[in-house]
Amino acid sequence: MPRVVVLTGAGISAESGIPTFRDADGLWEGHRVEEVATPEGFDRQPELVHWFYDARRAALRAVEPNAAHHALADLEQRLGDDLLVVTQNIDDLHERAGSTRVLHMHGELLSALCRACERRTRWHDDLVDQPPCPHCGVCELRPDVVWFGEIPYEMDRIQDAVAGAELFVSVGTSGAVYPAAGLVQLARAYGARTLELNLVPSVGTPMFHEARHGPAGVLVPEWVAEI
Ligand code: APR
Repeated sequence: MPRVVVLTGAGISAESGIPTFRDADGLWEGHRVEEVATPEGFDRQPELVHWFYDARRAALRAVEPNAAHHALADLEQRLGDDLLVVTQNIDDLHERAGSTRVLHMHGELLSALCRACERRTRWHDDLVDQPPCPHCGVCELRPDVVWFGEIPYEMDRIQDAVAGAELFVSVGTSGAVYPAAGLVQLARAYGARTLELNLVPSVGTPMFHEARHGPAGVLVPEWVAEI
């Protein structure tokens, strides 16, 4: 069981150039969240949704992990199994910085999920042309991301890890989306110390024992150096 669990959100990737969600009036790159991040939106306009995630996937190639991702990868070198990163992000910047113990509770841009056979495939290309699933051949691939109204991945493992942790740290998340936003209360209920690192105070700030405010690229390396 990891002694330290770090929950990350869009704010940790902001300094890499990936826009956050709630800093832009509820719009995500100009789209309403319900259009591009719900199963109903996908059923209504699959081409728009594919186009949207294809653009996000292509944009990943142009960005790099920042000092915050690297600091967490360095911490894993030191702590090994005693560190688990739980991310709400669908980018691959933790892995590209060198982290290997990462759970993507909201899925991954670089994965496609087949709606016919329900198998996953690493995916780097576009989906808008509806390519066949490499496993079953049916043309029903969707982005392997968790939309509003869907159940986040790995919740049993995440809750067990948070309940068993000594320290729970939240980085760059607004605390607006459950169940991720509730993990701090779970950690506290099981006796962990809790720390928030975020650009500005979040709705969840009062729930943490300690909160530090500033850019993740500064705060995360500072905190890692203290461990
Ligand atoms: N350093 C640290 N924090 C930052 C930085 C930065 N450089 N830039 C922005 N932030 C903070 C913002 O102040 C905000 O509190 O990061 C937070 C980002 O919040 P959101 O945009 O709401 O992102 P997140 O919390 O990850 O959203 C959760 O919502 O739409 C869904 O599925 C999506 O995973 C996402 C979930």
